[in-house]
Amino acid sequence: MAVLITGGTGYIGSHTIVELLGAGYDIVAMDNFSNSKPAVLDRILEITGKKIKFYQTDMLDKPGMEAMFRENRIDSCIHFAALKAVGESVEKPLLYYKNNVTGTLNLLELTVKYGVGRFVFSSSATVYGKPASVPIREDFPLSPVNPYGQTKLMIEQILTDLAASDSAMSVVILRYFNPVGAHKSGRLGEDPCGIPNNLMPYITQVAEGRLPYLPVYGNDYNTRDGTGVRDYIHIIDLARAHISALEYTQSHSGVECFNIGTGRGYSVFEIIRAYEKATGKRIPYQIAPRRPGDIDECYADPGKANRLLGWRAEYDIEDMCRDADRWQSMNPSGF
Ligand code: UD1
Repeated sequence: MAVLITGGTGYIGSHTIVELLGAGYDIVAMDNFSNSKPAVLDRILEITGKKIKFYQTDMLDKPGMEAMFRENRIDSCIHFAALKAVGESVEKPLLYYKNNVTGTLNLLELTVKYGVGRFVFSSSATVYGKPASVPIREDFPLSPVNPYGQTKLMIEQILTDLAASDSAMSVVILRYFNPVGAHKSGRLGEDPCGIPNNLMPYITQVAEGRLPYLPVYGNDYNTRDGTGVRDYIHIIDLARAHISALEYTQSHSGVECFNIGTGRGYSVFEIIRAYEKATGKRIPYQIAPRRPGDIDECYADPGKANRLLGWRAEYDIEDMCRDADRWQSMNPSGF
């Protein structure tokens, strides 16, 4: 039996596949390469020595998706495939609702048709919007502030209703905090298109000399040094959370959601210092205006995942910086 991975060549999908292969799982993966490259598949093979069954298809192409279910014995699914750029989702909301929500509906109709009852969904801390306090627990109010976050929340709701309608279903929703870092080999990592939106890939490109300095979006937040605080989590820790989640679906039915973070917040200035310490490289920066929609502080209470999934983050901030830097310097232009 195989695990179906949607969005298998993306940043999180690819690292999760490597960990799943290492744990002995059979994989069927799909991607439309809208934000990833076929070379990722060669790197997975290089790292693991295992070739996975791969389909280039789109979530909106239901017949293309159905072929995977018809041609393979799939018993569980980890669903990563989605558009994820917050700014773009504000400019093109219909694109986001159609791709993320309709695409997921197509996938779920097929999981129901083919009796695939174990499902792990890639959600985001973005569903909490601006939290009233930190650390954030899973029972905090949900109020995303942009269409991207709304699609994540809608899918959580769809999965909750679906699981309620079928007692054989087991759904785990993972709400990721800020995934960063790369595979230790330096052969797999994050490869954003164009100028990065997120902090860590921006810093790695500054470290590499591809970008002149880091814009620090605001130093007047209500935090210890005025810059935004986030819960950065190593991509390998995050990937491993999916194995724990899959195992959990084997012995539980219904739906359960978990925060996947370290439980520790770091400010932008602290990240700059940690990066400089871990790599010996200097990161020039300039204070810039706040980015619309950014919040002061966001970090997880990961206690529920510790208790129920038996999962906890193992890598620290220096590991994250060192591994991100190794990936960028070994692959200056990405894949
Ligand atoms: C962003 C997304 C969020 C998504 C997450 C995935 C936005 C508004 N939010 O979260 O929906 O789930 O990525 O990882 O895009 N920063 C700088 N300079 C930069 C880039 C970022 O100072 O060039 C600061 C930001 O203001 C923030 C922190 O670094 O305080 C982290 O930013 P980022 O990596 O973009 O993550 P989030 O904003 O937390």
